[in-house]
Amino acid sequence: MNLMVLILAAGKGTRMKSDTPKVLFKAAGKPMVDYVVDAASGLGAERINVVIGNGAELVQKHLAGKAEFSVQTAQRGTGDAVMAAADSISGFNGKVLILCGDMPLVKPETLKNFIEAAEKHPISFMSVKVKNPFGYGRVIRGIDGSVIKIVEEKDATEDEKREDEINTGIYLCDSKELMARLEGMDCNNAQGEYYLTDIVKKGSYAHLCKDETEFLGVNNRVQLAEASRVLWDRLAEKHMMNGVSLLDPKTFYCDGTVEIDNDVVIYPNVFLEGDTKIGRGSVIYSGTRIKDSVIAENCEIKENCLITESHVGAESHIGPMAHLRPGSVLEGDNKVGNFVELKKAKMGIGSKSSHLTYLGDAEIGKDVNIGCGTITCNYDGYSKYKTIIEDGVFVGSDVQLVAPVKVGKGALIAAGSTITKDVPADALGITRAKQQNMEGWVSAWKKKKGVE
Ligand code: UD1
Ligand code: CA
Repeated sequence: MNLMVLILAAGKGTRMKSDTPKVLFKAAGKPMVDYVVDAASGLGAERINVVIGNGAELVQKHLAGKAEFSVQTAQRGTGDAVMAAADSISGFNGKVLILCGDMPLVKPETLKNFIEAAEKHPISFMSVKVKNPFGYGRVIRGIDGSVIKIVEEKDATEDEKREDEINTGIYLCDSKELMARLEGMDCNNAQGEYYLTDIVKKGSYAHLCKDETEFLGVNNRVQLAEASRVLWDRLAEKHMMNGVSLLDPKTFYCDGTVEIDNDVVIYPNVFLEGDTKIGRGSVIYSGTRIKDSVIAENCEIKENCLITESHVGAESHIGPMAHLRPGSVLEGDNKVGNFVELKKAKMGIGSKSSHLTYLGDAEIGKDVNIGCGTITCNYDGYSKYKTIIEDGVFVGSDVQLVAPVKVGKGALIAAGSTITKDVPADALGITRAKQQNMEGWVSAWKKKKGVE
């Protein structure tokens, strides 16, 4: 069977109240139209054609290389949207599967089942029974149970409005039959639009589906949030079945691209995004967001950390409130404690930075101890410079390392030092004004002021 997928994505999305085209809004971290294109891609279609209009350039740019495009210049209804792809459809001999760009919840296997069941009919669509049919096109059947037509909410009689079987907006049509029916289309209806639903006539086949949640069409941000939650719930279930413990699956926020090994424990309100992988046995505490990063095995990521484009080696302890910015690489058994920020910083095995520190453009060896309040001064207002700290160095508290600078193997930097020159291996680096203690100074001073 020759298959072409047509995705309608030209609508205004007025109810989103935004300059962003509706189909580019993200549901669970991924633009809605991508779910539809991805589902379509798994069907072995010869062509995927997306009808664009509102925000056409943005949508086309976003989907470049994944589909071909037809432009609907004015949004005159779903029938007109399909007509915008008339050239494509006329030149194609086979089945056309019509999907909407604002329906991110449809599962690929549901589409496969539909195609199998509908293949022998010239015009078919998917229907579903819903609790609240308001706003949808109702499926009207005759006394023998066969389909007669679809009636839109605004055109329906009171009797018709009571029907709870609705049109999902997904169709499978013979290309020739679709074109023939579209050519005879008019816009004599309550909205003055060309309705795609008018291709459905007596004898059309309705494939009745079970799960209404799959067919949620997102028209506003309430429905967008609803769609995201459904997607997150599905991912939560998948990960739990794979051996991940979620303390509160209802507050699990995760992209479909994230990999999580078994025996990982995730506390409430954690965001896992993009190309992220969490290794076996790791625990992620509340309020943490991890994006495009790897957390290896048996790590502990405590509360409220932000980790982006970084690598955390096995057995490491991060946070609470640590910030790993892009290019942070921890080789393993590391500690990065509260209020520590890393950027393009490498840390060898066993090195620690437990409190209040900035390490930027730094190369740190193994078994290094970075004291509380250490700052790599990596920027002079124009350029960035590197700090190198070799294996086994001990950096005392409140030290500034003015880059470019290198501290050799096993050296010790005294607390409170501002290091501007390289420190050789095994040396003590110290820059401190000599301390004076003036005995009895305070009471003498108070006496002079006349205070107690
Ligand atoms: C449509 C169906 C309705 C069905 C419902 C399912 C019609 C007339 N009605 O109604 O029977 O129950 O979907 O969700 O088809 N679009 C264009 N160009 C246009 C108009 C729409 O590309 O000129 C696209 C939209 O971007 C959207 C899709 O078509 O992706 C559906 O349009 P929408 O206006 O949301 O249709 P509904 O009123 O929801
Ligand atoms: Ca809709």
